[in-house]
Amino acid sequence: MRHLMSPLDFSVEELDNLLDLAQDIEANPAKYAHACEGKKLATLFYEPSTRTRLSHEAAMLNLGGSVMGFASSDSSSASKGESVADTIRVISCYADICAMRHPKEGAPMVACQHSTIPVINAGDGGHQHPTQTLTDLLTIRNLKGRLNNMTIGLCGDLKFGRTVHSLINALVRYEGIRFILISPEELRLPDYIRHEVLDRNNIPYEEVVRLEDALPSLDILYMTRVQKERFFNEEDYVRMKDFYILDKEKMKLAPEDMYVLHPLPRVNEIAVEVDDDPRAAYFRQVQYGVYVRMALILTLLDIHVD
Ligand code: NCD
Repeated sequence: MRHLMSPLDFSVEELDNLLDLAQDIEANPAKYAHACEGKKLATLFYEPSTRTRLSHEAAMLNLGGSVMGFASSDSSSASKGESVADTIRVISCYADICAMRHPKEGAPMVACQHSTIPVINAGDGGHQHPTQTLTDLLTIRNLKGRLNNMTIGLCGDLKFGRTVHSLINALVRYEGIRFILISPEELRLPDYIRHEVLDRNNIPYEEVVRLEDALPSLDILYMTRVQKERFFNEEDYVRMKDFYILDKEKMKLAPEDMYVLHPLPRVNEIAVEVDDDPRAAYFRQVQYGVYVRMALILTLLDIHVD
């Protein structure tokens, strides 16, 4: 039985197959409409979510399966003190596969050790968010036609942003990847990722504070929200929250074939006026998130459609 805790749980070849499957699903949705008939997905969300929970549910429904779950820890027995280990043992009796989001790093990992069904990590604290990474990879591959030989700008909260952490882990396995890390001093990428992932794989990267300095050389700009819920005090958050605002003026500095991605939700970091720019790809990215999660559910349940 397979789980998805980190993007590294799949080899590059397996990832290619998964992205190919997602592309086939996009092209031929009817072919997959009954693939999961009789199967149930449980969504166990101990932290707020719009896209991640609903896109997993939409994915299962598109495959002809059913969904159940909870959207906050208050509405589950976690509020009575039940452990993740016990909850997953119970859910294993009800569902065929589950997606779990938890504020504590490693909680989905604990779950998969006690589970008899595949567990998908739908975001664990400031650690990883592998299904967002699958979404990002499919988006980049579809927009640029490749996942190698690219300069990727990661901008915003690189310290707490789990989407950035997972994306870096996944991209360093492709040839010719270079990063520009764009963040305020206080929100720099954690040392463990800089040393153990970037340095260990000899990945070239630069760290800059000004977005304007990075924009002209980027193939992809990955914007992120300052992760309010992970700050220890409100004052620091207020000081950081509007550090970056991508607007039309700044977009003039970017190449014609650069795309802007964002895992969403957006707060102020991308002005609404940018949405009409053909390079703004963040809403297309949301749609890819459904196809890739359909492909993931099929892969983890080992269901093959001819
Ligand atoms: C992200 C997350 O939850 O980490 N959202 C998402 O799943 N698309 C990004 C964020 O909350 O800023």
